[in-house]
Amino acid sequence: MTAPVRYETSRVEPGGMFAAFAGERRDGHDFAAQVVTDGAAAVLAARPVGVPAVVVDDVRAALQLLAAEVVTRLPHVHRIGVTGSSGKTSTKDLLGQVLGRLGPTVAPPGNRNNELGVPETVLLTTARTRFLVTELGARHVGDIAALMPVVRPHTGVVLGVGSAHIGEFGGREAIARAKGELVEALPDTGLAVLNADDPVVAAMAGRTVARVVTFGRHASARVRAERVVLDGAARARFVLCAPAGTAEVALRLHGEHFVTAALAAATVALDHTDDVALVADALSAATPRSAGRMRLTERPDGVTVLDDAYNANPESMVAGLRTLVAMAAGRRRTVAVLGQMNELGAGSAAAHAEVGRAAVRLGVDVVVAVGNQDAAGYGGAHVADRQAAAGLLRELLEPGDVVLVKASNSLGLSVLVEGIGQSVRSAPPSTGTEIPVR
Ligand SMILES: Nc1ncnc2c1ncn2[C@@H]1O[C@H](COP(=O)(O)OP(=O)(O)OP(=O)(O)O)[C@@H](O)[C@H]1O
Ligand SMILES: [Mg+2]
Repeated sequence: MTAPVRYETSRVEPGGMFAAFAGERRDGHDFAAQVVTDGAAAVLAARPVGVPAVVVDDVRAALQLLAAEVVTRLPHVHRIGVTGSSGKTSTKDLLGQVLGRLGPTVAPPGNRNNELGVPETVLLTTARTRFLVTELGARHVGDIAALMPVVRPHTGVVLGVGSAHIGEFGGREAIARAKGELVEALPDTGLAVLNADDPVVAAMAGRTVARVVTFGRHASARVRAERVVLDGAARARFVLCAPAGTAEVALRLHGEHFVTAALAAATVALDHTDDVALVADALSAATPRSAGRMRLTERPDGVTVLDDAYNANPESMVAGLRTLVAMAAGRRRTVAVLGQMNELGAGSAAAHAEVGRAAVRLGVDVVVAVGNQDAAGYGGAHVADRQAAAGLLRELLEPGDVVLVKASNSLGLSVLVEGIGQSVRSAPPSTGTEIPVR
């Protein structure tokens, strides 16, 4: 095989392998012949498909076994797992760019954090690879534990325990139990990187035999951000303080909450280098690698769009609103287009109302709520879907407005962003006034 194993036909490369799964709507086996015609070397399949194939009983188990075997055969690769309710992809993307300064690093863009995406990521490692960064998602207790034999991480990062997927989990205690499965799996030679600002995460120090290093804003954190300020585009600047020294970081990501991701990435990197200036420089140069996460564009007519249409849960909604408001200075109005949050279970209506109250408290000028009856709890104008939202925004937006679009991916608001942002150009570096934070 001269190219990676993929389970989506659109991503199979010539010389690679296609792992065929039967999905809800389509069965990968039906595409096997086409994929091989297009250049794939072989298919991993659950039944003969008429083209070169490795036929197994269980394709998912086979994919995971392949990944586990690669881990065994490439023991020199330092393997890192990242989990938490929000910020996994962002942290993984930062780690890719920071560790990339130290050696060849596998940290592919996007959200490959489940029982298929994780082994697929592991299978990207080669004899040249020095670091492998995997994003570990969970919707149930046991999900992360099940991925541990596939990754066998040396380093485990836990960002925060929020309320994403709380409906599926059944409560915050279950979420904490699930996220902690990562540090429980670390060996005594490993490293647990824990967020000192989240007491539930900090308490996970008691659940691991690995060495623990904390990060955060809290004075007790070993790797800290001090003197955090935001510029007019809500990009954070801070002094990175670590036992090895201090250095200035100026992030290009929009939102104070990315300080957490940056500190987590710095903590991992500083376990492999004492060069704090290099780590700070890599963080300052890092750009968003995965779509739909706080991407800023400015229309020629002067409307600024902050696209965060990929993901929404109560904590990230509030982080998004804070970012929007931090960009208000010198602009006409702040407009929050908020899609419904999914998988919040019995507390869903209350969680939406709480986000609505946060919008009021923070002083957001206009709220457009998109989606079901729970979404109406955001307050402001309520529309059922993105088409209606697009119509409303065409009427509403004026030059000088800054618009946050934030929702779960399933609502498709990224299409709305494209509509608003037609013929956009990248935002120039801001020279806005600095806002001291706390
Ligand atoms: N520390 C944080 N606190 C609150 N929100 C955050 C934090 N870090 C990132 N976010 C926000 O959470 C959203 C998702 O970010 P990201 O995709 O990095 O998270 P994720 O954990 O990978 O999510 P998913 O569960 O979809 O994989 C974005 O809106 C981002 O701005
Ligand atoms: Mg993710």
